[in-house]
Amino acid sequence: MCGIVGFVGAQEAAPVLLDGLTRLEYRGYDSAGVAVVSPQYEIQVEKTKGYVKELSALIHGGADLHGTIGIGHTRWATHGAPSDVNSHPHLSEGGKFAVIHNGIIENYVEIKEFLINQGVTFRSETDSEVVAQLLEFYYNECHDFFEAVGRVLRRIEGAYALGMLCADCPDRIIAARKDAPLLLGYGEGENFIASDVTAIIKHTREVAYMEDGEVAVLTREGIEVFDALQQPVAKERHHIDWEVSAAEKGGYPHFMLKEIFEQPEALRRAISPRLKEGKIVFDDMKLTPEQIRAFTRVFIVACGSSYHVGMLGKYTLEHLTRRSVEVCLASEFRYADPIVDKNTLVIVISQSGETLDTMAALREAKARGAYILSIVNVVGSSIARESDDVLYTWAGPEIAVATTKAYSTQLAVLDMIGLVFGEALGTVDSAEYDEVVAELERLPEKMETVLKNHEDIQKYAAQHFNHNSIFFIGRNLDFALGLEGSLKLKEISYIHSEAYASGELKHGTISLIEEGTLVVALGTYGKLFDKALSNIIEVKARGADVLALTTEKHRAELEKTVSNVLTIPDTATMLLPSLGVVPLQLFAYYVALQRGCDIDKPRNLAKSVTVE
Ligand code: G6P
Repeated sequence: MCGIVGFVGAQEAAPVLLDGLTRLEYRGYDSAGVAVVSPQYEIQVEKTKGYVKELSALIHGGADLHGTIGIGHTRWATHGAPSDVNSHPHLSEGGKFAVIHNGIIENYVEIKEFLINQGVTFRSETDSEVVAQLLEFYYNECHDFFEAVGRVLRRIEGAYALGMLCADCPDRIIAARKDAPLLLGYGEGENFIASDVTAIIKHTREVAYMEDGEVAVLTREGIEVFDALQQPVAKERHHIDWEVSAAEKGGYPHFMLKEIFEQPEALRRAISPRLKEGKIVFDDMKLTPEQIRAFTRVFIVACGSSYHVGMLGKYTLEHLTRRSVEVCLASEFRYADPIVDKNTLVIVISQSGETLDTMAALREAKARGAYILSIVNVVGSSIARESDDVLYTWAGPEIAVATTKAYSTQLAVLDMIGLVFGEALGTVDSAEYDEVVAELERLPEKMETVLKNHEDIQKYAAQHFNHNSIFFIGRNLDFALGLEGSLKLKEISYIHSEAYASGELKHGTISLIEEGTLVVALGTYGKLFDKALSNIIEVKARGADVLALTTEKHRAELEKTVSNVLTIPDTATMLLPSLGVVPLQLFAYYVALQRGCDIDKPRNLAKSVTVE
C-alpha cells in the first residue's frame, strides 16, 4: 500500500527520501516519486511508474535534486492506472505546492469540477491531485500555507495521510492525518514524517503518532502539532526499541524466509512474558473475569491470514469456553447489520493495525456498543489505539507481504485468550489447561525442530513446482490450517489453490481430482486421523499425488499409504496448527522460489490494505 516519507534538515533531502522509500517497498506499490524544494525555492518533482530503483536511476541516486527539504511517496494505484503522471507527488498547476497522499478523497469529483470551473487544469486521473490544486486555489486567496491547509481539510472528505510542500515557505512540511497512518520522527536538527517507522528508523527512534484531525508543521528546528480546532497539541513520544537489522534481510535471500525462521523467537516474545507459574497472565489486558462472564456473544473479525487465525480460534475458543463464537471477514461484517450490543465482545485481529475494512468493522462494532479486544502487531497503530483492550503479538516488524510470524504469534495470543476466558468461565478442564500451558512453553523449541527439516520440503518443492492447481484438504483444525497453507501458496507462487473441508470433497470438488493432481492432505488432528486417512485413500483412488502432513505419532501408519509424508512433533491438540503451518509456509516459499516469483512483493498484493 502507499508509503509516505518526508524530511527537513541540513543534509540533501533526495538520498534520504530514496532510502526511506526503499524501506517502504515491502508495503507493495507500483510507482514512486519525490519532491524537493531547491535552493532557489522551486519545487522539483521526479516520479515514475515502477520501482524505487528506477526512480533512483532517473535522478542519479538523488544527486540531481538539490535541497534539504522534501517529500517522497510509493503509490499503489486506486484512482487512475499506475503511470508516471498518476504517481505522487502531485504538483499544483502554478507549481507552488507539492502533495503526497495515502487514502482516498471521496468527494474529489465534486472538487475537481469546482476547480475546473475556476480554470484549473488537471494533469492526472487521481483523487489526490485535487489536494494540490485546492491548496493553491485557497493559498491564492489567503496567502498563508497553514490557513490554506486548514481550508482544504475542511473541504475534503475521506481518508488521508498528507505531506505538503509550499515553494513560498521553503523551511516547512505540513502534514495531516485522518483515517490513514502517519507518524512524526524527531531528529537532531532534522525532522521526519512517515507512514511507518521503518522508513526513518535509520535516522531517529523518537516518534509520535498523529491522530485523526491533527495537522503538523515540521521545520528543521522542531515539530508543532495542532488539533482540528487549530489548538496546539502536546504529543506523547514513543521510543522505538527494535533494531534496524530487524527490518533488513540479515543474510537471508528473502524477508519471507527470514521471518519464517524468526517464528520461534517471535513466539517466545509473545508467550513467555505471559506465562507465570503455570498460569496465563495478561498484565496488558483490562478485561476482568466478571466482564468476560457477562458477554453473551463473541465475534472474531479480521481479513486475510488474520481471518484464518480467527477460523482456528473459533474451534479452540468454543472448545475452551463452551460459548459460540462467530468468525467474520471484516469486509462482510461491516455491512452485514451484525447483531452486536453492549454485551458483545468483538476480537479484532490485525498484523498492521491499519487494514481499512478491519478498522471499519471495529468502528461499526464499537458504535453498537461492543467491547473491542484486539490482537495487533504494530504498536500504536490505529486499530490498537481505537480498541478498548489490545494484546500485542510482539512479532517485530514483518516486511514480506505474505505474513508468517505475525500469523503464528496471533494464533498463540488467541490460544492464550481461550485459556484465560475458559478459566474465567470455569469451562476449561484443569488438566487440559496445564497441558496447553506446558506445551505453549515448549512451542518455540518444537517449532525449531520443524524448521530443521526445511531441506526435505525444499526437495519436494523442487519436484512439484509445476502444478497448475493444488488442493489442501483437512477436517476441523486441519481445514482451517489448510486455508492458510493454500493462501500462502497462491499469494506468492500464483498457482491456483483451494482449501477444502475433506468431508465436503465428495459433494462436488472431487470431480476436479485427476491423474497427477497435487493434494496436500492435512492429518495432524489425532482424533480425526482415521477420517483423514480415508479421504487420502479417496483422492489417491482418483489419481491424486498426495503430500501428507501429520504428527510423529502417526508417521509410520501414514507411510503405509502415502510416500511423501511430512511430520511435526506431537503437542496439545489446539497447538498443532501452530506447528503445522510451518511446513506449509516453507512449501509455498520453495515452490515460489523455483518458479522465480517476486516472493517478498507478490504482484497485485500489498502488505497493509488501507483501501476498501
Ligand atoms: C493483506 C496482507 C495479508 C494480511 C491481510 C490482513 O492482504 O497481504 O498478509 O493477512 O492484509 O492484514 P492485517 O494487517 O489486518 O492482519
